[in-house]
Amino acid sequence: MRTPLAWLLLPVVVAGPGGVALAQQTNVLQERDQRTHPVWGPRGMVAAGEPLAAEAGARMLRAGGNAVDAAVATTFALSVSLPHSTGLGGGGFLLLWLPGASPALGRSHLPECRQARGRELPLGRGSAVGVDFREVAPAAARSDLFLDARGTVDRQRATRSLQSTAVPGTVAGLLLAQRCYGRLPLPQVLAPAIQLARRGVPVSRNFSQSLQAGSVLLKADPTSRQLFFPGGVPLQPGQRLLQPQLAATLERIAQGGNAGFYAGPTAEALTGLMAQGGGLITPADLRAYRARPVMPLQISFRGHPVLALPPPSGGLTLLQLLRLVEPQELYSTGLNSAATLHPLAEAMNLAYLQRNNLLGDPGDTPIAAERFLEDDAIQRLRAQINPSRHRSAVELLAKPALMQEGSDTTHVSVADRQGGLVAVTSSINFAYGNGITVPGAGFLLNNQMDDFSAKIGSPNAFGLVQGRANGIAPGRRPLSSMTPTLVFRPDGSPWIATGSPGGSRIITTVLQVLLNRIGVGLNLAAAVAAPRIHSQLLPDRIEWEEGISADTLQLLRERGHALQRAVAMGAAQSVEVIRGGGSYGVNDPRRAWELAQPE
Ligand code: DON
Repeated sequence: MRTPLAWLLLPVVVAGPGGVALAQQTNVLQERDQRTHPVWGPRGMVAAGEPLAAEAGARMLRAGGNAVDAAVATTFALSVSLPHSTGLGGGGFLLLWLPGASPALGRSHLPECRQARGRELPLGRGSAVGVDFREVAPAAARSDLFLDARGTVDRQRATRSLQSTAVPGTVAGLLLAQRCYGRLPLPQVLAPAIQLARRGVPVSRNFSQSLQAGSVLLKADPTSRQLFFPGGVPLQPGQRLLQPQLAATLERIAQGGNAGFYAGPTAEALTGLMAQGGGLITPADLRAYRARPVMPLQISFRGHPVLALPPPSGGLTLLQLLRLVEPQELYSTGLNSAATLHPLAEAMNLAYLQRNNLLGDPGDTPIAAERFLEDDAIQRLRAQINPSRHRSAVELLAKPALMQEGSDTTHVSVADRQGGLVAVTSSINFAYGNGITVPGAGFLLNNQMDDFSAKIGSPNAFGLVQGRANGIAPGRRPLSSMTPTLVFRPDGSPWIATGSPGGSRIITTVLQVLLNRIGVGLNLAAAVAAPRIHSQLLPDRIEWEEGISADTLQLLRERGHALQRAVAMGAAQSVEVIRGGGSYGVNDPRRAWELAQPE
């Protein structure tokens, strides 16, 4: 067994020489003297949650592809090698920055590329653009879709049925990014994923365990059962997961582009299943799906331009949080002290309160997201933080709720040799989505309809109690926490790409990675590894990871916080462009995925 760090162009050098100049003077050790270190590579870097998929991206970089080719190849490969986390049946968000003029290869005449070009944000010597490929509610979806006769939310239907599936966006989103901004031909980019599906993915111990954990869900569906439980037992370490139907679907996409998924045999397999099993997605829903190019939001955090995506992505909330805590002197209050964590948790609560009450899919008209980020708005919000006392949910509003985090969703960050950066987070929501595999097409379906507010005041699986702006409506995209993020040096040159899975903890995971890196001055590996907290107002408590000291917890209790020990939260994948050449990569040590050696 081998545990992957980041995967990159050979040769692999672990523990770089610490060539990154600190953004500011800090009271922590020099980066090279800290306990953990990123992996360094001379010619580009791919950080992903599974090593075979990361290698697929590195192959693209070696073949002359750019960060977009690599990120797309890796995400398609993850849909084969990490089927509990992401797949063709899901959706997500991608954020890219490329140096120089774009789109590449003169493909700008395509309407979607022209549209993307119109939404680029010039920054430094290049420009950035986002792709929103979040799933959309089918045309037949109504606001009361998941309410039973008594008006309560039918959680089974909202998460485990064909109705829980929104129209998938992953194929359209990845193809749009690759077509408009990649360099390599699509069949080359899809080749590693096809190969993995045909030749089989060696099953690791983690994978076998995750199948065991998902057995009730997966065995309830005949196609999933056949695929993952041959002979009635989960695939065992050393065996191979063979996915010939998924390989054929990927081949149709390689040949036909979007039409290989949204029309023809793949679409027929998906809509046929829907028609038989009470699902809502029709051929017209699939034909109508479009990935949306979006202009990124930008703030300056301690002189660093930070880019993230507007709703339905979680980026706006992340940027709000960065702005809220910006004045805090993290070097002097120190990593994970009560003096650091109390105002951080209070800021999280206020930002989630706004998110849950006000945010939703703005549709094709860009929302005035900037108004949430303007000085006045931030100052008003910041003024609500009591520096010495927790303000409870009862004081700020509402009722308690339960929350859980799946082990699904996945993030890929890539840096290429030209400094191009891509961050892409994709998901099918829960681990193995709704557990239903499309017969004849070989991919699992998302249950992202649960990210809508099924009923005002009723929590979803992540405990998020959301508002009317996120109600179910035909063609609307459910509000997400996924937040691919890019950070630049003060002079506008590319620096960090990061993102994470973790449900509602995605935003706070990315926040703490950036605060630790930029505010505290930890190197990227130490910034990712440091223990994290999460608070989202409802439920009204700070969740904390092992590693936060007992003294700190006591001081937080004295400030009025309820505390809950949490399992490891999030799994950030991050890369960093180094000024002197090469790049760093970091896999989150939480949930590191082993590479299984075939027998
Ligand atoms: O879009 C969202 O916010 C969720 N559907 C993401 C789900 C997720 O990250 C699950 N956990 N690891």
